[in-house]
Amino acid sequence: MAQLTLPNNSKVMQGKTVDAANGATRRKRFVIYRWDPDSGDNPRTDTYEIDLDKCGPMVLDAIIYIKNEIDPTLTFRRSCREGICGSCAMNIDGTNTLACTIATESIKGDVGIYPLPHMSVRKDLVPDLRHFYAQYASIKPWMQTQTPPPPDKERLQSKEERMKLDGLYECILCACCSTSCPSYWWNSDRYLGPAILLQAYRWIIDSRDEATGERLDDLEDPFRLYRCHTIMNCAKTCPKGLNPGKAIAAIKKLMVTRAV
Ligand code: SF4
Ligand code: SF4
Ligand code: FES
Repeated sequence: MAQLTLPNNSKVMQGKTVDAANGATRRKRFVIYRWDPDSGDNPRTDTYEIDLDKCGPMVLDAIIYIKNEIDPTLTFRRSCREGICGSCAMNIDGTNTLACTIATESIKGDVGIYPLPHMSVRKDLVPDLRHFYAQYASIKPWMQTQTPPPPDKERLQSKEERMKLDGLYECILCACCSTSCPSYWWNSDRYLGPAILLQAYRWIIDSRDEATGERLDDLEDPFRLYRCHTIMNCAKTCPKGLNPGKAIAAIKKLMVTRAV
């Protein structure tokens, strides 16, 4: 008979609650997913109440405060705290986004924080991105050329050619879009997903690159490209305001154009 519930060791239990110190004036509760693979325990959610006057305005500031002042075992990734590195991507208040660019004040009620969905979890808020990066490597994300560059200058682009990269080069590979895409949830073993396909299009459309045909050949596959069903969760969630669905549609259009 089909098993319709999670295995017992997957159920998320209620963990500890830590209240803010007496005298706290701006109290806010953060309900955070915890899982330590070395403990053998089920995942749980721990609740930390903090005084927002004690930390900076962003959700990342609050998480750093919790780690520094309350619970040093809390594990998460972050680096730039400027929305540039993509490492603090997580699910906050039900949306995949960057912890460093979302203001705590913008979230009503308790702040629920989980790792990016539908990825294996290494620990707490850290998803396993090895497969995601292997998929990125598979599209050869570097310029490929056969002709030698001009002897005395770099390969130039016209203003119009350069503008074609707008809306693509800004991608920080945070994986918010791919982990919000239902097609990627179910087919991530073979479907490249919106982030990697946006990156693929970034090279396909670059006027200096000379491997356009090979790049399209590589994507001409029922799974790698064609699992996108234009659901557009990717564009809705991208914290950089990009539209991977549009890039995917552009690749599909190029496939049709070169076929006729
Ligand atoms: S538009 Fe395509 S890539 Fe974006 S969420 Fe939908 S199915 Fe996924
Ligand atoms: S397209 Fe947006 S959401 Fe997707 S990886 Fe790039 S920056 Fe992140
Ligand atoms: S810490 Fe770099 S994007 Fe948030």
